[in-house]
Amino acid sequence: MQIIEIMEKTFESESNDIALYLAMSKKADEEGHLEIANYLFDVAMEEASHAVQFASLLGKVKDTKTNLVNMLAGEMKAEKDKARAAKIAFTEGNDEAFQFFEESLKDETKHKEGIKNILSRLQEND
Ligand SMILES: [Fe+2]
Ligand SMILES: [Fe+2]
Repeated sequence: MQIIEIMEKTFESESNDIALYLAMSKKADEEGHLEIANYLFDVAMEEASHAVQFASLLGKVKDTKTNLVNMLAGEMKAEKDKARAAKIAFTEGNDEAFQFFEESLKDETKHKEGIKNILSRLQEND
């Protein structure tokens, strides 16, 4: 089972790298280093393809209906977690964090609603 643990850690680390490379690509772009920005973007996409492969190997991907049911639970949790985090950021006077938790909370709600809609359409076709 050691390899499963290693694969889980690798999946986490690849997933983490996607966001970091994208953030760094954005930064390079803002600094006017377009070639570097494109390179970092390409690396992010390659890390994404590694993460996708590990997600499959680890059995994280099921049939579409099950995937959506699982992700709906995740989005509902993300929505609650972001609302809680926004309150904490507000209490601690971290305005930048507060603003972004509020903004991304709206996205999580949008994801939740979008997945719910798809699921109800899938159920109509059952
Ligand atoms: Fe990688
Ligand atoms: Fe989300």
